[in-house]
Amino acid sequence: MSDRFITMVGGSRGSLRVHDVRALSGESLDVVPYLDVRPWLAPAGDSVARWQLSGAVSNLRYATSKEREHYGSLQPPLGRAEARFGALIPIRKSAAWWELPQDTRRSIIADDSRHIAIGAEYLPAIARRLLHCRDLGSPQPFDFLTWFEFAPEYATAFDELLARLRATREWEYVEREVEVRFERIVS
Ligand code: HEM
Repeated sequence: MSDRFITMVGGSRGSLRVHDVRALSGESLDVVPYLDVRPWLAPAGDSVARWQLSGAVSNLRYATSKEREHYGSLQPPLGRAEARFGALIPIRKSAAWWELPQDTRRSIIADDSRHIAIGAEYLPAIARRLLHCRDLGSPQPFDFLTWFEFAPEYATAFDELLARLRATREWEYVEREVEVRFERIVS
């Protein structure tokens, strides 16, 4: 996942076997057997893809230099051999969220909801990547594609992290969220 623009393809082929697709808020995505990660400009073709979601690696919006230094020092790389389990969680926030000024959004995320502090508690067990869909310039079904990888023994910790974040004030602004759980196919 080293390109800046990336497409997640859910369909009949891919390097990741999908265990579960379920909506937490709003409309779900079709259940698919496989997931693939591709450079943006390599579409999968209709015969393979049931859905394709694109996003871009982007700049930080909210983390302060101190926060970044803290979680950055703990954050593992993607693609670790032992991190066979994972989740793609596309998220859309409400119009009310996007109307808020930047400093209010930062305060909801980092101060009220402690998203960055809570997340850092789960490093280095969980590797993560955040892709921004609004940076693509054309309408997209989600605002963010979030991506996580972890070893099977951390699956319970990952569930706990999700439950903690979903109970925060930040999540009151989440209007669509789908969980796509997968396992890397080891040949
Ligand atoms: C694994 C531990 C996690 C850490 C260390 C972490 C850290 C962060 C940080 C630092 C940001 C702010 C980036 C910026 O400054 O622009 C962020 C944003 C975000 N994270 Fe997490 N996070 C974690 C887990 C999660 C989980 C489990 C989810 C989804 C269920 C999630 C969803 C998001 C979303 C959607 C944003 C963008 C928020 C916005 O811009 O409105 N994060 N995360």
